[in-house]
Amino acid sequence: MFSSLRFRLPALFLLGIGVSGLIATAIALALFQNYAREQLLTKLRREANGLTQLYEKQAIAANDTGAKTLRFAPAQLERATGDKIFYAGANVFPDQVSGLRPLPQNSVDWRSENVQTFEFRPPGFKRTYLAVLQPLRLAPRSAPFGALIVATPKTEITSSLAPLLGRLALAFVGGILVAGLLAWYLSRRITRPVLALSNAADEISRGSYSVDVPDVRGGGEIGHLADRFRDMASRLSEAEQRERNFLMSVSHELRTPLTAIRGHVDALREGVAEDPEARAASLEVIAHEGARLERLVGDVLDLAKLEAHRFTLLQEEVDMGRLCDLAYAAFGEEARRRGIDYDKRFDATPTIVSDGDRVLQIISNLLSNAFRWTPNGGHVELELSATNGRVAVAVDDNGPGVAPEEQERIFRPFWSRDDSGTGLGLAIAHELAVALGGRIELATKPGQGSRFELVLPAEQEDWLQAP
Ligand SMILES: Nc1ncnc2c1ncn2[C@@H]1O[C@H](COP(=O)(O)OP(=O)(O)O)[C@@H](O)[C@H]1O
Ligand SMILES: [Mg+2]
Repeated sequence: MFSSLRFRLPALFLLGIGVSGLIATAIALALFQNYAREQLLTKLRREANGLTQLYEKQAIAANDTGAKTLRFAPAQLERATGDKIFYAGANVFPDQVSGLRPLPQNSVDWRSENVQTFEFRPPGFKRTYLAVLQPLRLAPRSAPFGALIVATPKTEITSSLAPLLGRLALAFVGGILVAGLLAWYLSRRITRPVLALSNAADEISRGSYSVDVPDVRGGGEIGHLADRFRDMASRLSEAEQRERNFLMSVSHELRTPLTAIRGHVDALREGVAEDPEARAASLEVIAHEGARLERLVGDVLDLAKLEAHRFTLLQEEVDMGRLCDLAYAAFGEEARRRGIDYDKRFDATPTIVSDGDRVLQIISNLLSNAFRWTPNGGHVELELSATNGRVAVAVDDNGPGVAPEEQERIFRPFWSRDDSGTGLGLAIAHELAVALGGRIELATKPGQGSRFELVLPAEQEDWLQAP
């Protein structure tokens, strides 16, 4: 549970918010404490100033009249403000001052000329006090005879902080609550698609590719991930379907000739075909179907190797003119027999570096298809041309053409409109062309004919001619 994003994300959010809240509170408290201390000192200074004036006035009067005691009663003031008022200094009035708390002479520096602020613990007191000392003089600019000290407990600063602290704590708890809800909501928004994707991945790993990959609104990285994931699932599903189709097609294709062979072998064994003519016919069928089986197995193997990229291709000098002549000649006899208008047009006769046998295999395949689909008396043409770095061999015919929805399908294995065909020819030709660095292009108009064009790279020619 703790390793789950659903827990970690909000926890991380909250941790961040909590830490920043604590730091902000600490800074606010420190600032406020300084401020409260300054406020308290200002108040003490004001009080000290007022009291000093009062005290000095009375002291001067008492001094003039030669009184032995100075009456001064700050007790009410103390009660009202909570401040303690002390006196430190020389015994100007031997019978002392009433009201002020005397401090031992050397407990504070009362001889200094200036107003001072300091912290101290008065003798007999338990707490530390914040104090302002103001010198007392009998005449302006004369040396002070003592000092008046107004002090207030330091705890007053902290006690003024208490309500603030309470409010800050309240705000903090409220903030954390709101932030927690927000974090929970946001992290759910983030993790929900991730969890859904992870569930979908589980489904796929269990082999069910038709899983519903969730739509992630707003795009972003997770949206991208979901899209790619959906693509992947559909590709996997397609691949699985293709594999199944392939297996079924292969077994079907193998079974048809095998059934024929077995039928004839049984007939021969049981002596059903008595006369030599029927026997010869049976043997002929067996031989023919055997050859077809051989071709089929060879093709399937070729295709499997090509698709697995386990195919060694030669790198040899290939005279394309000669190669096309060879391919062309192979169908001359059929063209003559079926009255097909059979032409060749070589605009160039380049030499390229490729695998000659494989190139010939592709061209023969295209020609064989053209002858298969062109009606007697039709037209087939073989063209060879070379343009900027590419060699093109085109096979034109005026057969039935290929319907738009079939144009992609005919390059797939076992897709054939013809019962006697295996549907492997174009699949192999296409894979071979790609393996040789080229492609097969199809231009066709249904009812008018087709043009299959093998395009191969010819760059390496320069390299070949170099000394
Ligand atoms: N020249 C062509 N004209 C019309 N259709 C063609 C032509 N060549 C191929 N096709 C279509 O493509 C299909 C697949 O061809 P191919 O892979 O060679 O398999 P097969 O020749 O065994 O049927 C053919 O069954 C046919 O429908
Ligand atoms: Mg074919």
